[in-house]
Amino acid sequence: MTRIAVVLGSVRPNRSGAGVAQWVLDKANAVEGVEAELVDVASFGLPVFAEEVPPMMAAPKDPAAVAWNEALSAYDAFIFVTPEYNRSIPGALKNAIDFTVPAALANKAVGLVAYSYYNGFRPVEHLRDILVNFTTGVVGPQVNLSLVTDVADGAFAPAPFRDGEIAALVEAVVTQDKALSTLR
Ligand SMILES: Cc1cc2nc3c(=O)[nH]c(=O)nc-3n(C[C@H](O)[C@H](O)[C@H](O)COP(=O)(O)O)c2cc1C
Repeated sequence: MTRIAVVLGSVRPNRSGAGVAQWVLDKANAVEGVEAELVDVASFGLPVFAEEVPPMMAAPKDPAAVAWNEALSAYDAFIFVTPEYNRSIPGALKNAIDFTVPAALANKAVGLVAYSYYNGFRPVEHLRDILVNFTTGVVGPQVNLSLVTDVADGAFAPAPFRDGEIAALVEAVVTQDKALSTLR
């Protein structure tokens, strides 16, 4: 069993990300041997990072950050779902990652899904860079959704070929988890 946290990085009330994250959850949970749950950055109410020391030196003390790290620690693998904000990931997601203790992500598989008017290539690349600071296994397959072509009547409506992309991403995450589980 691979327990996957689908981490939603937009915290806006009317976010497009809710539909995207639900789609990822549905597709992941349809795979045998996968149990996927939403981990919503918005639900933690994290303050802006202002701890005395970085999380790699001491675990954050803020209660919201304690809850955040406990939540992440319960999973084997992650799929980050991020919009593109100003050619990168939202500040709220970066802030949440800044609060993350290395052990919560160590030797765990990670998949990346992004969406924007320009298919979210830039936030995915930025996330890959950020996550290098953790010892994770970020898989190669990724899903880059368009808010132009994967939307119908204002709602998230992925093109049929996206099914193959998300399936490949989930499969890669599960395979990576099997390999990395021997190191945890
Ligand atoms: C602060 C901000 C910056 C944005 N910057 C970009 C951008 O650089 N490129 C882009 O394609 N879309 C950009 N957008 C559009 C978002 O991708 C779009 O609004 C998307 O729905 C945001 O995800 P969310 O609704 O889940 O928060 C931006 C939106 C916001 C709120």
